[in-house]
Amino acid sequence: MKDIILTGDRPTGNLHLGHFIGSLKKRIELQNEGNYEKYYIMIADTQALTDNAQRVDKVKNNIIQVAIDYISAGIDPKKVNIFIQSMVSELHEFTSYFMNLVTLSRLQRNPTIKEEIKQRGFETSLPIGFINYPISQAADILAFGTTIAPVGGDQMPMFEQAREIVNSFNNTYKPQEEVFVMPKAIVSENKLFQRLPGLDGKLKMSKSAGNSIYLCDDEATVREKVMKAYTDANHLKVTDPGQIEGNVVFTYLDAFCREEHFARFLPEYENLDQLKEHYRRGGLGDVKVKKFLVNVLEDFLAPIRERRKECLNHIDEIYNMLFENSRLASIDAKERLEKMKDAMGLNYKKFLK
Ligand code: TRP
Repeated sequence: MKDIILTGDRPTGNLHLGHFIGSLKKRIELQNEGNYEKYYIMIADTQALTDNAQRVDKVKNNIIQVAIDYISAGIDPKKVNIFIQSMVSELHEFTSYFMNLVTLSRLQRNPTIKEEIKQRGFETSLPIGFINYPISQAADILAFGTTIAPVGGDQMPMFEQAREIVNSFNNTYKPQEEVFVMPKAIVSENKLFQRLPGLDGKLKMSKSAGNSIYLCDDEATVREKVMKAYTDANHLKVTDPGQIEGNVVFTYLDAFCREEHFARFLPEYENLDQLKEHYRRGGLGDVKVKKFLVNVLEDFLAPIRERRKECLNHIDEIYNMLFENSRLASIDAKERLEKMKDAMGLNYKKFLK
């Protein structure tokens, strides 16, 4: 059986390099392999509202931004159904019934939620919708029969939760035929790429930490950000030996640079290993490495920027595509919703003679 792929992002800001390396790259690969039955990418506005209830405008305005980021990064809306979560109302029904299968303490143990509660200062005033979002996300995943989901490493606990709900549903309602499929998250094997570090070298790259390079940043911005990026605090003089581990400039090179970049931008070296070796030994300055990184990133970002410009001339078409795709996604979700209710015995029409 071919895969059903579903993944998504919250529309709270533009996508950055962390999104690209963490999952977008894999999403594009899966799209181009073409070995799937259905492929959905959800713009998770409902989930974004769980910690942005007062900022509806921000969420609303970012829907088109995220859609443009997808398309300019290489997602083809002809091959992938990009839809808006809140326009698929069936998802709320799944969520309601799943909520009876999960305990509050289970949600409180979710490591991603735990961290997010801290980040947001929600310890003393936790919105129910927020702590509940792993259940709502399980609905997103299970409603479509998702088999695989290319996501960032922080999403693993959400898939564990979704699998637990499948088991719990099966134990509780003992469906005669399979209703829900066990989903699997696909994450980068490289731990660093699962959560690409931010420019500060401390936290992962994230919108809220203000330490990100965005897919839509212009060249001057990219340059400025890279020049300020954290390298090695003990590498003060060019002659000092430098450290690669924890040095974000090298981490970004690991993620983005290819051998051909050396021939084009830094022909004194053949490859990244040689460059690293020189840095470790001493005698290689940060500025030189950073300038190289700017070139490498520009090679990647310039075509994305061009496609973004193109998209900006087709905003209406992109909105119409999102609306139509949401309508189609809704039809797909409805099918499984009926199966679920049948399995639960919520089929009152059977009382009719
Ligand atoms: N939680 C994801 C994020 O923060 C977004 C998301 C919502 C998602 N529903 C999903 C991801 C279903 C994968 C599958 O980016």
